[in-house]
Amino acid sequence: MGPLLVRQARWIAHDVLELQLTRPDGGGLPPWEPGAHIELTLPSGLRRPYSLCGNPTDTRAWTVAVHRVPDGRGGSQEVHDTALVGRELEVRGPINRFPLLPAKGYLLLAGGIGITPLLPMARELTARGIPWRLILGARDRSRLAYADDLVELGGDRVLLVPQDEAGLPDLAAEIAAAPPGHAVYACGPTPMLDTVMSLCPTAYTEHFTSGDGDTQVAGTKGEFDVVLTRSDLRTTVPADRSVLDVVRELLPAVPYSCEEGYCGSCETPVTAGIPDHRDTVIDPSERATATTMMICVSRSASAVLELDL
Ligand code: FES
Repeated sequence: MGPLLVRQARWIAHDVLELQLTRPDGGGLPPWEPGAHIELTLPSGLRRPYSLCGNPTDTRAWTVAVHRVPDGRGGSQEVHDTALVGRELEVRGPINRFPLLPAKGYLLLAGGIGITPLLPMARELTARGIPWRLILGARDRSRLAYADDLVELGGDRVLLVPQDEAGLPDLAAEIAAAPPGHAVYACGPTPMLDTVMSLCPTAYTEHFTSGDGDTQVAGTKGEFDVVLTRSDLRTTVPADRSVLDVVRELLPAVPYSCEEGYCGSCETPVTAGIPDHRDTVIDPSERATATTMMICVSRSASAVLELDL
């Protein structure tokens, strides 16, 4: 895509900063579809993915919203703590790994900043006259990003659930009440997505793209060895580090992007050993036979894993 200018920054909810990006020459931007994200290269060089959350028909500006994650990997703090307005940032994308697939209607479930890919979905469904319902939960009212826009858009199709007043959203009841043929889309933190998947295994889910993510280094129970067969190297992956982290020390050019297991950039062929898949690229039904793994989040169920690197 090239560099885009940060034209505006706006505080839209507690710890949520919205950025508007335009072409430096004021020209038009490529079209995108709800669910798409872009990757920003921050002034420090950190690259972070953010869902596009503006209006897909607006070709003058792209909008992202960034939730500050105090104990994240630093991307969101940099966005919040740096004067970005007037600066140009390198942008890749848009990329869509969370597309709206055809259905009779949609139940959209958002946790916190997970609203960002679902808001443009709600806009698009409204424009197309397709039924939808959206539930947005957050710790308290001050953290319900885009609440006013949602209510204006959907009226009583939108249920806002501030946890300190109303507790957690009743996901089981909402999913049970969805009419037949309606698709369930969910974006939010891992515990919420785990609950959604246990209630509705056909749901489409995405971890929120705060840019720091809530994806901990997965499988922190133990270390294992990785053999890089083409490079004839062997190394140990400690319990608290990802395969990608360790491999990058040996092979700095290894590709990656989101570091959260959803973009597919770090997909690597596995030649021996048993991967413990933690990503959202490989469908759960295909994990047992998959011959590749996303090394940014997936780990090993065997003592040694051989990778074609
Ligand atoms: S870097 Fe995106 S899936 Fe691994």
